[in-house]
Amino acid sequence: MSSRLFSSVLDIATPGRFPRTQKWVWRRVYNILSLFWSDADWRFMNYGYLPEGEPFPLKPEDEPERVFIGLYQQAVAGLELEGKHVLEVGSGRGGGSRYIARYYAPAAVTGMDYSPETVRRARRLNDDTPVLSFENGDAENMPFADGSFDIIVNIESSHCYGDVPAFSREVSRVLKSGGWFTFADMRPKSQLNSLDVQLGAPGLELVEHRNITPRVIAALDAAETRKSERIGKSRLLRRFMSEFSGSKGSVLYKGLKSGSVVYVARRYRKAR
Ligand SMILES: C[S@@+](CC[C@H](N)C(=O)[O-])C[C@H]1O[C@@H](n2cnc3c(N)ncnc32)[C@H](O)[C@@H]1O
Repeated sequence: MSSRLFSSVLDIATPGRFPRTQKWVWRRVYNILSLFWSDADWRFMNYGYLPEGEPFPLKPEDEPERVFIGLYQQAVAGLELEGKHVLEVGSGRGGGSRYIARYYAPAAVTGMDYSPETVRRARRLNDDTPVLSFENGDAENMPFADGSFDIIVNIESSHCYGDVPAFSREVSRVLKSGGWFTFADMRPKSQLNSLDVQLGAPGLELVEHRNITPRVIAALDAAETRKSERIGKSRLLRRFMSEFSGSKGSVLYKGLKSGSVVYVARRYRKAR
């Protein structure tokens, strides 16, 4: 797939333009990816985050996925997770939920994703982790009772949603009073202001906002070799995967570098 064609697909999949088509396209993409991409040592589908300074603690077996775990580590750093009920919305192959379940002693972690094949893949890849489960469900209409969770995590998933305000209202509904919503994703620079309006459902107070683009670019650079070795294995999908995974030279990598695409992190708290 040429970069120009990929740009057109991105255009259709860009939040706000064709919401229903966008949602349908992404679901197909993730179903197909999860069906055919069976690598047991690949539990993440994000661009990563490389913090400055001292590296955060990780078990040796998790080191290969450090940069992808980094997005989760920065999302939950400083939050009290022990004994808490955590929901990840858009949990993908489950690596982020698995990291939280294994490192922070929560009571339970539920990963939810709207791609049924991705949920099946996540269950297979993470069946070694107690307190962790995966469910099929839509961010815009979650299958959970009001006030079910202490913490909701959402990493690089919201750009797929047809209705981000509906997602934010659902977050506010299923969070307990005093609970935290921690979010990270990218948007075209021109959409940043509307993203903040869309995420601010009644009951959610914005506590922290950061532009993490430089740390995401550093992670993309650090992961380039591992990714290109993996991508190189599948000739048919090579071009698509290279664009999709943000390899150097891809449309999204260039967008992040030039500032036309921005990767942000937000933290909200539900009023007590
Ligand atoms: C780029 S992947 C990120 C996965 C994971 N958060 C990670 O960092 O590895 C985006 C995920 O969001 C899921 N997703 C997209 N739209 C969704 C929706 N409306 N409800 C729930 N999950 C959704 C996709 O199926 C996909 O697994």
